[in-house]
Amino acid sequence: MHFLLLLVSLVLGMWSISSNTSFPCPSHCTCHLELKFATCASNNLTNVPTTIPPSIEHLNLSLNHLAFVQHQAFRSTRRLRTLLLNDNQISAISDGAFSPLEALIKLDLSRNRISSLTEGFSLGLGSLLELSLAENQLTRMDGCCFYHMDALQKLNLSHNAIHSIKIRAFGSLSTLRRINLDGNKIYNLSNGVFSMLRNLEELRLKGNSIDHLEVGVFAPLTSLTVLDLAENKLNAVDFKAFLSLHTHSTHIWLGGNPWTCDCDLQRVFRKLHSVQRLLLDDYANLTCAEPEQLRGNALRDVDSQLCIAETVTVLIITVTVVITVVAAIVMAEKKQKKTSKGKHWTEVSEMSCDSQN
Ligand SMILES: *[C@@H]1O[C@H](CO)[C@@H](O)[C@H](O)[C@H]1NC(C)=O
Ligand SMILES: *[C@@H]1O[C@H](CO)[C@@H](O)[C@H](O)[C@H]1NC(C)=O
Ligand SMILES: *[C@@H]1O[C@H](CO)[C@@H](O)[C@H](O)[C@H]1NC(C)=O
Ligand SMILES: *[C@@H]1O[C@H](CO)[C@@H](O)[C@H](O)[C@H]1NC(C)=O
Ligand SMILES: *[C@@H]1O[C@H](CO)[C@@H](O)[C@H](O)[C@H]1NC(C)=O
Ligand SMILES: *[C@@H]1O[C@H](CO)[C@@H](O)[C@H](O)[C@H]1NC(C)=O
Repeated sequence: MHFLLLLVSLVLGMWSISSNTSFPCPSHCTCHLELKFATCASNNLTNVPTTIPPSIEHLNLSLNHLAFVQHQAFRSTRRLRTLLLNDNQISAISDGAFSPLEALIKLDLSRNRISSLTEGFSLGLGSLLELSLAENQLTRMDGCCFYHMDALQKLNLSHNAIHSIKIRAFGSLSTLRRINLDGNKIYNLSNGVFSMLRNLEELRLKGNSIDHLEVGVFAPLTSLTVLDLAENKLNAVDFKAFLSLHTHSTHIWLGGNPWTCDCDLQRVFRKLHSVQRLLLDDYANLTCAEPEQLRGNALRDVDSQLCIAETVTVLIITVTVVITVVAAIVMAEKKQKKTSKGKHWTEVSEMSCDSQN
Protein backbone atom coordinates (compact mmCIF):
# COMPACT_ATOMS: atom_id res chain seq x y z
CA MET A 1 0.00 0.00 0.00
CA HIS A 2 2.77 2.42 0.96
CA PHE A 3 4.68 1.37 -2.08
CA LEU A 4 1.68 2.20 -4.21
CA LEU A 5 1.32 5.63 -2.62
CA LEU A 6 5.02 6.21 -3.19
CA LEU A 7 4.62 5.23 -6.83
CA VAL A 8 1.65 7.56 -7.23
CA SER A 9 3.52 10.47 -5.69
CA LEU A 10 6.50 9.67 -7.88
CA VAL A 11 4.31 9.78 -10.95
CA LEU A 12 2.74 13.01 -9.73
CA GLY A 13 6.21 14.40 -9.17
CA MET A 14 7.15 13.59 -12.72
CA TRP A 15 4.47 15.85 -14.10
CA SER A 16 6.00 18.56 -16.08
CA ILE A 17 4.28 21.81 -16.71
CA SER A 18 4.62 22.01 -20.43
CA SER A 19 3.06 24.61 -22.62
CA ASN A 20 1.82 27.85 -21.23
CA THR A 21 -0.60 26.98 -18.55
CA SER A 22 -1.04 26.15 -14.96
CA PHE A 23 -2.52 22.68 -15.65
CA PRO A 24 -0.20 19.72 -15.23
CA CYS A 25 0.43 17.39 -18.14
CA PRO A 26 1.64 13.74 -17.89
CA SER A 27 5.36 13.47 -18.39
CA HIS A 28 5.19 11.67 -21.72
CA CYS A 29 2.66 14.03 -23.16
CA THR A 30 2.54 17.48 -24.60
CA CYS A 31 -0.50 19.52 -23.75
CA HIS A 32 -1.78 22.57 -25.56
CA LEU A 33 -4.50 23.59 -23.19
CA GLU A 34 -5.48 26.66 -25.13
CA LEU A 35 -6.21 24.29 -28.03
CA LYS A 36 -7.65 21.62 -25.70
CA PHE A 37 -5.20 19.23 -27.31
CA ALA A 38 -2.80 16.66 -25.80
CA THR A 39 -0.48 14.28 -27.55
CA CYS A 40 1.20 11.32 -25.92
CA ALA A 41 2.04 9.67 -29.24
CA SER A 42 5.15 7.61 -30.06
CA ASN A 43 6.16 7.07 -26.45
CA ASN A 44 6.14 3.30 -25.95
CA LEU A 45 3.25 3.73 -23.47
CA THR A 46 1.72 0.47 -22.28
CA ASN A 47 -1.10 2.10 -20.30
CA VAL A 48 -3.45 4.98 -20.91
CA PRO A 49 -2.11 7.89 -18.81
CA THR A 50 -4.57 8.57 -16.00
CA THR A 51 -3.71 12.19 -15.33
CA ILE A 52 -4.59 13.95 -18.54
CA PRO A 53 -6.13 17.37 -17.82
CA PRO A 54 -9.93 17.10 -17.84
CA SER A 55 -10.35 20.02 -20.20
CA ILE A 56 -8.63 18.14 -23.06
CA GLU A 57 -10.87 17.49 -26.08
CA HIS A 58 -8.38 15.97 -28.53
CA LEU A 59 -6.08 13.19 -27.35
CA ASN A 60 -3.43 11.53 -29.48
CA LEU A 61 -2.22 8.19 -28.12
CA SER A 62 -1.16 6.74 -31.45
CA LEU A 63 2.03 4.76 -32.04
CA ASN A 64 2.38 3.40 -28.52
CA HIS A 65 2.35 -0.12 -27.06
CA LEU A 66 -1.13 -0.16 -25.56
CA ALA A 67 -2.51 -3.70 -25.45
CA PHE A 68 -5.75 -3.38 -23.54
CA VAL A 69 -8.38 -0.70 -23.00
CA GLN A 70 -9.93 -1.05 -19.57
CA HIS A 71 -13.44 -0.30 -18.43
CA GLN A 72 -13.85 3.50 -18.25
CA ALA A 73 -10.21 4.06 -19.15
CA PHE A 74 -11.08 7.64 -20.07
CA ARG A 75 -13.34 8.53 -17.16
CA SER A 76 -11.24 11.59 -16.22
CA THR A 77 -11.38 13.07 -19.73
CA ARG A 78 -15.10 13.20 -20.36
CA ARG A 79 -14.89 16.09 -22.78
CA LEU A 80 -12.93 14.18 -25.40
CA ARG A 81 -14.10 14.80 -28.95
CA THR A 82 -11.22 13.08 -30.77
CA LEU A 83 -9.40 9.99 -29.52
CA LEU A 84 -6.56 8.48 -31.55
CA LEU A 85 -5.52 4.99 -30.49
CA ASN A 86 -4.26 3.89 -33.90
CA ASP A 87 -0.98 1.99 -34.32
CA ASN A 88 -0.94 0.30 -30.93
CA GLN A 89 -1.15 -3.39 -30.02
CA ILE A 90 -4.67 -3.36 -28.68
CA SER A 91 -6.21 -6.83 -28.77
CA ALA A 92 -8.89 -6.45 -26.11
CA ILE A 93 -11.35 -3.75 -25.24
CA SER A 94 -13.49 -4.22 -22.18
CA ASP A 95 -17.20 -3.50 -22.12
CA GLY A 96 -17.78 0.18 -21.51
CA ALA A 97 -14.15 1.10 -22.21
CA PHE A 98 -15.35 4.32 -23.80
CA SER A 99 -18.52 4.62 -21.78
CA PRO A 100 -18.32 8.11 -20.33
CA LEU A 101 -17.25 9.70 -23.62
CA GLU A 102 -20.56 11.20 -24.57
CA ALA A 103 -18.98 14.01 -26.61
CA LEU A 104 -16.69 11.74 -28.62
CA ILE A 105 -16.98 12.36 -32.35
CA LYS A 106 -13.98 10.54 -33.79
CA LEU A 107 -12.37 7.29 -32.61
CA ASP A 108 -9.42 5.81 -34.46
CA LEU A 109 -8.51 2.21 -33.59
CA SER A 110 -6.84 1.38 -36.90
CA ARG A 111 -3.75 -0.81 -37.07
CA ASN A 112 -4.25 -2.71 -33.83
CA ARG A 113 -4.85 -6.42 -33.15
CA ILE A 114 -8.56 -6.45 -32.51
CA SER A 115 -10.12 -9.76 -33.54
CA SER A 116 -13.56 -9.41 -31.99
CA LEU A 117 -15.82 -6.82 -30.46
CA THR A 118 -18.41 -7.20 -27.77
CA GLU A 119 -21.83 -5.72 -27.32
CA GLY A 120 -20.48 -3.33 -24.67
CA PHE A 121 -17.96 -1.84 -27.09
CA SER A 122 -20.35 0.87 -28.26
CA LEU A 123 -21.66 1.82 -24.80
CA GLY A 124 -21.71 5.59 -24.37
CA LEU A 125 -20.69 6.33 -27.94
CA GLY A 126 -23.99 7.88 -28.96
CA SER A 127 -22.36 10.98 -30.46
CA LEU A 128 -19.65 9.21 -32.42
CA LEU A 129 -19.62 10.21 -36.10
CA GLU A 130 -16.47 8.48 -37.30
CA LEU A 131 -14.99 5.12 -36.32
CA SER A 132 -12.00 3.41 -37.83
CA LEU A 133 -11.22 -0.22 -37.15
CA ALA A 134 -9.15 -0.56 -40.32
CA GLU A 135 -6.22 -2.98 -40.43
CA ASN A 136 -7.24 -5.15 -37.50
CA GLN A 137 -8.07 -8.85 -37.35
CA LEU A 138 -11.86 -8.88 -37.31
CA THR A 139 -13.32 -11.98 -38.97
CA ARG A 140 -17.08 -11.50 -38.82
CA MET A 141 -19.73 -8.84 -38.54
CA ASP A 142 -22.71 -9.98 -36.55
CA GLY A 143 -24.24 -6.67 -35.56
CA CYS A 144 -23.43 -7.00 -31.89
CA CYS A 145 -21.06 -4.17 -31.63
CA PHE A 146 -22.49 -0.97 -33.00
CA TYR A 147 -25.73 -1.01 -31.12
CA HIS A 148 -25.37 2.27 -29.21
CA MET A 149 -23.85 4.29 -32.03
CA ASP A 150 -26.91 6.30 -32.92
CA ALA A 151 -25.11 8.98 -34.92
CA LEU A 152 -22.32 7.14 -36.75
CA GLN A 153 -21.69 8.39 -40.29
CA LYS A 154 -18.35 6.86 -41.30
CA LEU A 155 -17.20 3.33 -40.56
CA ASN A 156 -13.87 2.04 -41.77
CA LEU A 157 -13.51 -1.74 -41.56
CA SER A 158 -11.02 -2.06 -44.40
CA HIS A 159 -8.18 -4.58 -44.37
CA ASN A 160 -9.47 -6.93 -41.72
CA ALA A 161 -10.22 -10.62 -42.33
CA ILE A 162 -14.01 -10.33 -42.39
CA HIS A 163 -15.49 -13.29 -44.25
CA SER A 164 -19.08 -13.19 -43.17
CA ILE A 165 -21.63 -10.50 -42.59
CA LYS A 166 -24.81 -11.46 -40.84
CA ILE A 167 -28.16 -10.24 -42.08
CA ARG A 168 -28.88 -6.80 -40.59
CA ALA A 169 -25.35 -6.65 -39.12
CA PHE A 170 -25.43 -2.88 -39.63
CA GLY A 171 -29.11 -2.62 -38.79
CA SER A 172 -28.58 -0.20 -35.91
CA LEU A 173 -26.61 2.21 -38.09
CA SER A 174 -29.35 3.95 -40.02
CA THR A 175 -27.36 7.23 -39.99
CA LEU A 176 -24.35 5.66 -41.71
CA ARG A 177 -23.18 7.47 -44.87
CA ARG A 178 -19.92 5.75 -45.73
CA ILE A 179 -18.70 2.24 -45.06
CA ASN A 180 -15.37 0.87 -46.16
CA LEU A 181 -15.02 -2.92 -46.34
CA ASP A 182 -12.11 -2.96 -48.81
CA GLY A 183 -9.53 -5.72 -48.51
CA ASN A 184 -11.51 -8.28 -46.53
CA LYS A 185 -12.48 -11.88 -47.32
CA ILE A 186 -16.16 -11.45 -48.04
CA TYR A 187 -17.38 -14.00 -50.62
CA ASN A 188 -21.14 -13.95 -50.23
CA LEU A 189 -23.45 -10.98 -50.06
CA SER A 190 -26.91 -12.22 -49.25
CA ASN A 191 -30.14 -10.27 -49.28
CA GLY A 192 -30.56 -8.31 -46.07
CA VAL A 193 -26.92 -7.63 -45.14
CA PHE A 194 -27.36 -3.95 -45.95
CA SER A 195 -30.93 -3.54 -44.83
CA MET A 196 -31.73 -0.35 -42.89
CA LEU A 197 -28.82 1.57 -44.45
CA ARG A 198 -31.07 4.02 -46.25
CA ASN A 199 -28.62 6.92 -45.78
CA LEU A 200 -25.59 5.06 -47.05
CA GLU A 201 -23.88 7.00 -49.85
CA GLU A 202 -20.64 5.08 -50.24
CA LEU A 203 -20.16 1.31 -50.11
CA ARG A 204 -16.62 0.12 -50.70
CA LEU A 205 -16.08 -3.61 -51.21
CA LYS A 206 -12.94 -3.55 -53.35
CA GLY A 207 -10.53 -6.46 -53.00
CA ASN A 208 -12.83 -9.09 -51.51
CA SER A 209 -13.76 -12.54 -52.87
CA ILE A 210 -17.35 -11.85 -53.86
CA ASP A 211 -18.37 -14.25 -56.63
CA HIS A 212 -22.08 -13.61 -56.81
CA LEU A 213 -24.60 -10.98 -55.87
CA GLU A 214 -28.10 -11.79 -54.75
CA VAL A 215 -30.62 -9.81 -56.73
CA GLY A 216 -32.03 -7.72 -53.89
CA VAL A 217 -28.85 -7.15 -51.90
CA PHE A 218 -28.47 -3.47 -52.84
CA ALA A 219 -32.18 -2.68 -52.91
CA PRO A 220 -32.31 -1.04 -49.44
CA LEU A 221 -29.57 1.45 -50.38
CA THR A 222 -31.69 4.27 -51.72
CA SER A 223 -29.04 6.98 -51.21
CA LEU A 224 -26.07 5.13 -52.68
CA THR A 225 -23.81 7.19 -54.95
CA VAL A 226 -20.65 5.03 -54.94
CA LEU A 227 -20.49 1.23 -55.16
CA ASP A 228 -17.01 -0.19 -55.48
CA LEU A 229 -16.89 -3.88 -56.38
CA ALA A 230 -13.52 -3.83 -58.14
CA GLU A 231 -11.06 -6.69 -57.68
CA ASN A 232 -13.51 -9.36 -56.59
CA LYS A 233 -14.26 -12.77 -58.10
CA LEU A 234 -17.29 -11.88 -60.20
CA ASN A 235 -17.39 -13.68 -63.54
CA ALA A 236 -21.00 -12.88 -64.29
CA VAL A 237 -23.63 -10.69 -62.77
CA ASP A 238 -27.39 -10.43 -62.74
CA PHE A 239 -28.61 -7.20 -64.30
CA LYS A 240 -31.41 -7.02 -61.73
CA ALA A 241 -28.94 -6.80 -58.83
CA PHE A 242 -28.04 -3.31 -60.04
CA LEU A 243 -31.43 -2.40 -61.44
CA SER A 244 -32.84 -2.79 -57.93
CA LEU A 245 -30.78 0.25 -56.84
CA HIS A 246 -33.46 2.92 -56.78
CA THR A 247 -31.15 5.86 -56.46
CA HIS A 248 -30.75 9.17 -58.20
CA SER A 249 -27.38 8.17 -59.65
CA THR A 250 -24.79 5.60 -58.62
CA HIS A 251 -21.21 5.22 -59.76
CA ILE A 252 -20.27 1.54 -59.98
CA TRP A 253 -16.77 0.08 -60.23
CA LEU A 254 -16.36 -3.47 -61.51
CA GLY A 255 -12.76 -3.58 -62.81
CA GLY A 256 -10.34 -6.33 -61.87
CA ASN A 257 -12.97 -9.09 -61.81
CA PRO A 258 -12.49 -12.35 -63.81
CA TRP A 259 -15.31 -11.82 -66.31
CA THR A 260 -16.56 -14.63 -68.54
CA CYS A 261 -17.04 -12.73 -71.77
CA ASP A 262 -20.04 -14.31 -73.45
CA CYS A 263 -23.21 -13.10 -75.02
CA ASP A 264 -25.03 -13.10 -71.66
CA LEU A 265 -22.45 -10.74 -70.18
CA GLN A 266 -22.62 -8.50 -73.23
CA ARG A 267 -26.40 -8.30 -72.83
CA VAL A 268 -26.11 -7.47 -69.11
CA PHE A 269 -23.75 -4.59 -69.81
CA ARG A 270 -25.81 -3.37 -72.76
CA LYS A 271 -28.80 -3.17 -70.44
CA LEU A 272 -26.77 -1.53 -67.67
CA HIS A 273 -25.55 1.11 -70.12
CA SER A 274 -29.13 1.88 -71.01
CA VAL A 275 -30.06 2.74 -67.41
CA GLN A 276 -29.11 6.38 -67.00
CA ARG A 277 -28.82 6.39 -63.23
CA LEU A 278 -26.18 3.64 -63.24
CA LEU A 279 -22.73 4.93 -64.22
CA LEU A 280 -20.12 2.28 -65.03
CA ASP A 281 -17.08 4.45 -64.46
CA ASP A 282 -14.44 1.83 -65.17
CA TYR A 283 -16.14 -0.07 -68.00
CA ALA A 284 -13.01 0.57 -70.09
CA ASN A 285 -11.03 -1.35 -67.48
CA LEU A 286 -13.08 -4.57 -67.54
CA THR A 287 -11.11 -7.51 -68.94
CA CYS A 288 -12.06 -11.05 -69.83
CA ALA A 289 -10.69 -14.05 -67.93
CA GLU A 290 -12.77 -16.59 -69.86
CA PRO A 291 -13.07 -17.99 -72.50
CA GLU A 292 -9.41 -18.71 -72.97
CA GLN A 293 -9.13 -17.17 -76.43
CA LEU A 294 -10.35 -13.83 -75.10
CA ARG A 295 -8.32 -13.83 -71.89
CA GLY A 296 -6.78 -10.44 -71.20
CA ASN A 297 -8.91 -8.64 -73.78
CA ALA A 298 -10.84 -5.59 -72.76
CA LEU A 299 -14.56 -6.34 -72.70
CA ARG A 300 -15.13 -3.03 -74.48
CA ASP A 301 -13.06 -4.23 -77.48
CA VAL A 302 -14.78 -7.58 -77.88
CA ASP A 303 -18.33 -6.89 -76.75
CA SER A 304 -19.68 -6.36 -80.29
CA GLN A 305 -18.48 -9.85 -81.29
CA LEU A 306 -19.77 -11.77 -78.30
CA CYS A 307 -23.25 -12.27 -79.64
CA ILE A 308 -22.18 -12.97 -83.26
CA ALA A 309 -22.08 -16.73 -82.79
CA GLU A 310 -25.54 -16.62 -81.28
CA THR A 311 -26.78 -14.31 -84.03
CA VAL A 312 -25.41 -16.70 -86.66
CA THR A 313 -27.09 -19.65 -84.98
CA VAL A 314 -30.36 -17.77 -84.81
CA LEU A 315 -29.98 -16.82 -88.49
CA ILE A 316 -29.31 -20.42 -89.52
CA ILE A 317 -32.31 -21.63 -87.58
CA THR A 318 -34.50 -18.91 -89.07
CA VAL A 319 -33.32 -19.63 -92.61
CA THR A 320 -33.86 -23.36 -92.12
CA VAL A 321 -37.34 -22.80 -90.79
CA VAL A 322 -38.19 -20.43 -93.67
CA ILE A 323 -36.86 -22.89 -96.27
CA THR A 324 -38.80 -25.73 -94.72
CA VAL A 325 -42.00 -23.72 -94.63
CA VAL A 326 -41.55 -22.48 -98.20
CA ALA A 327 -40.75 -25.99 -99.37
CA ALA A 328 -43.79 -27.32 -97.61
CA ILE A 329 -46.01 -24.67 -99.21
CA VAL A 330 -44.58 -25.31 -102.67
CA MET A 331 -45.01 -29.06 -102.29
CA ALA A 332 -48.53 -28.62 -101.07
CA GLU A 333 -49.35 -26.37 -103.97
CA LYS A 334 -47.82 -28.81 -106.48
CA LYS A 335 -49.80 -31.62 -105.02
CA GLN A 336 -53.00 -29.61 -105.20
CA LYS A 337 -52.34 -28.69 -108.86
CA LYS A 338 -51.70 -32.33 -109.70
CA THR A 339 -54.95 -33.53 -108.14
CA SER A 340 -56.99 -30.74 -109.71
CA LYS A 341 -55.40 -31.51 -113.15
CA GLY A 342 -56.36 -35.17 -112.75
CA LYS A 343 -59.93 -34.18 -111.96
CA HIS A 344 -60.00 -31.93 -115.02
CA TRP A 345 -58.94 -34.78 -117.25
CA THR A 346 -61.58 -37.10 -115.93
CA GLU A 347 -64.16 -34.38 -116.45
CA VAL A 348 -62.86 -33.81 -119.99
CA SER A 349 -62.85 -37.53 -120.75
CA GLU A 350 -66.38 -37.82 -119.36
CA MET A 351 -67.43 -34.86 -121.51
CA SER A 352 -65.80 -36.39 -124.59
CA CYS A 353 -67.59 -39.66 -123.82
CA ASP A 354 -70.82 -37.71 -123.61
CA SER A 355 -70.20 -35.93 -126.90
CA GLN A 356 -69.37 -39.18 -128.54
CA ASN A 357 -72.71 -40.60 -127.47
C1 LIG B 1 1.82 31.57 -23.92
O1 LIG B 1 0.66 32.37 -23.91
C2 LIG B 1 0.85 33.64 -24.51
C3 LIG B 1 -0.41 34.47 -24.37
O2 LIG B 1 -1.44 33.74 -23.80
C4 LIG B 1 1.22 33.44 -25.98
O3 LIG B 1 1.46 34.67 -26.59
C5 LIG B 1 2.45 32.57 -26.09
O4 LIG B 1 2.73 32.32 -27.42
C6 LIG B 1 2.27 31.26 -25.33
N1 LIG B 1 3.52 30.53 -25.33
C7 LIG B 1 3.56 29.22 -25.61
C8 LIG B 1 4.90 28.60 -25.52
O5 LIG B 1 2.55 28.55 -25.89
C1 LIG C 1 -0.76 12.02 -33.63
O1 LIG C 1 0.58 11.71 -33.40
C2 LIG C 1 1.27 11.10 -34.48
C3 LIG C 1 2.65 10.70 -34.02
O2 LIG C 1 3.32 11.80 -33.50
C4 LIG C 1 1.28 12.06 -35.65
O3 LIG C 1 1.92 11.45 -36.75
C5 LIG C 1 -0.14 12.43 -36.01
O4 LIG C 1 -0.14 13.40 -37.03
C6 LIG C 1 -0.86 12.98 -34.79
N1 LIG C 1 -2.25 13.19 -35.18
C7 LIG C 1 -2.90 14.33 -34.97
C8 LIG C 1 -4.28 14.42 -35.46
O5 LIG C 1 -2.37 15.26 -34.42
C1 LIG D 1 10.76 3.32 -27.47
O1 LIG D 1 11.47 2.08 -27.48
C2 LIG D 1 12.45 2.00 -28.46
C3 LIG D 1 13.01 0.59 -28.47
O2 LIG D 1 12.98 0.03 -27.22
C4 LIG D 1 13.54 3.04 -28.18
O3 LIG D 1 14.53 2.98 -29.17
C5 LIG D 1 12.88 4.41 -28.18
O4 LIG D 1 13.83 5.39 -27.82
C6 LIG D 1 11.73 4.46 -27.20
N1 LIG D 1 11.04 5.74 -27.36
C7 LIG D 1 10.75 6.54 -26.36
C8 LIG D 1 10.07 7.82 -26.71
O5 LIG D 1 10.97 6.23 -25.23
C1 LIG E 1 -9.85 3.51 -44.20
O1 LIG E 1 -8.68 2.88 -43.81
C2 LIG E 1 -7.79 2.61 -44.86
C3 LIG E 1 -6.66 1.77 -44.32
O2 LIG E 1 -6.09 2.32 -43.19
C4 LIG E 1 -7.33 3.93 -45.46
O3 LIG E 1 -6.44 3.69 -46.54
C5 LIG E 1 -8.54 4.69 -45.95
O4 LIG E 1 -8.14 5.95 -46.41
C6 LIG E 1 -9.57 4.84 -44.87
N1 LIG E 1 -10.76 5.36 -45.47
C7 LIG E 1 -11.46 6.35 -44.97
C8 LIG E 1 -12.65 6.79 -45.71
O5 LIG E 1 -11.11 6.90 -43.96
C1 LIG F 1 -24.71 -16.87 -48.49
O1 LIG F 1 -25.07 -16.61 -47.14
C2 LIG F 1 -26.42 -16.92 -46.82
C3 LIG F 1 -26.68 -16.54 -45.39
O2 LIG F 1 -25.70 -15.77 -44.85
C4 LIG F 1 -26.68 -18.38 -47.06
O3 LIG F 1 -28.04 -18.65 -46.80
C5 LIG F 1 -26.36 -18.71 -48.50
O4 LIG F 1 -26.52 -20.09 -48.70
C6 LIG F 1 -24.94 -18.33 -48.81
N1 LIG F 1 -24.68 -18.57 -50.23
C7 LIG F 1 -23.56 -19.14 -50.66
C8 LIG F 1 -23.47 -19.34 -52.12
O5 LIG F 1 -22.67 -19.46 -49.92
C1 LIG G 1 -8.11 1.05 -64.48
O1 LIG G 1 -7.13 0.15 -64.01
C2 LIG G 1 -5.90 0.76 -63.68
C3 LIG G 1 -4.92 -0.34 -63.33
O2 LIG G 1 -5.51 -1.34 -62.58
C4 LIG G 1 -6.11 1.76 -62.55
O3 LIG G 1 -4.90 2.41 -62.24
C5 LIG G 1 -7.13 2.80 -62.99
O4 LIG G 1 -7.40 3.67 -61.93
C6 LIG G 1 -8.41 2.11 -63.42
N1 LIG G 1 -9.33 3.09 -63.94
C7 LIG G 1 -10.52 3.32 -63.40
C8 LIG G 1 -11.37 4.33 -64.08
O5 LIG G 1 -10.90 2.72 -62.40
